[in-house]
Amino acid sequence: PSLEKEFLPMYFGWFLSKRSSEILRKAGQAFLDELGSLKAFKKESKYFASAIEDPKIKIDLTSYFVKRPPGVLHCTTKYTDFGKAAGAEEYAQQEAVKASYGKGFTLSISALFITTKTVGARVELSEQQLLLWPGDADKILPTDSLPRGSRAHVTLGCANSVEAVQTGLDLLEFVKLEKAGNKGEEVGEIGGGKLLYFGNGMWMLTLSKKIDVKAIFSGYYG
Ligand code: 2AM
Repeated sequence: PSLEKEFLPMYFGWFLSKRSSEILRKAGQAFLDELGSLKAFKKESKYFASAIEDPKIKIDLTSYFVKRPPGVLHCTTKYTDFGKAAGAEEYAQQEAVKASYGKGFTLSISALFITTKTVGARVELSEQQLLLWPGDADKILPTDSLPRGSRAHVTLGCANSVEAVQTGLDLLEFVKLEKAGNKGEEVGEIGGGKLLYFGNGMWMLTLSKKIDVKAIFSGYYG
């Protein structure tokens, strides 16, 4: 037990299979392509100024979100920072965490979203998966009270100089708006679902058919 302390990962999470990573990456790519050539999006493109070449043609969101995760995609549960993060040890010692380590799961992707900072996929966790979700993750402000698992996501890309931790905070912003009664403006149906605009460059595609991805619960040691 004295050794365990020294060997906590950088973070715990679900690591998608190679094939599921490819499927989700492709869905994200199709979303960015379609959004970038959509009239309603181009009208609001000032938020993505650096991606505008000729606004009449297309906003290049792929090059806007330059920082893309290499290799397989993942959904972080707990960022433990090799044991240095608050609550790291407690999280790692939970029965559910120990029992699930190395086990396979199917995660359900319910939406894709972009902000001026990040592009991500929203993950809808099952009751069983919520057992692996830390109690302190679903807040931006200490006073926030949002449903457990609100932050669950897969980062697909970040704008220049934005760190991956931002994607979950951006998703929480959407959830806070939803909670405040702002369900977003329905822009219409695009490939895969219903497109919603929340203002300030915040767009969400709620998928009509959720994407199931296969993933292993594990730790990333860097
Ligand atoms: P992500 O989960 O949004 O992709 C390594 O940096 C991984 O841990 C990234 O995947 C990152 O974001 C996540 N991460 C980094 N710092 C974090 C933090 N303070 N809280 C939660 N997740 C964090």
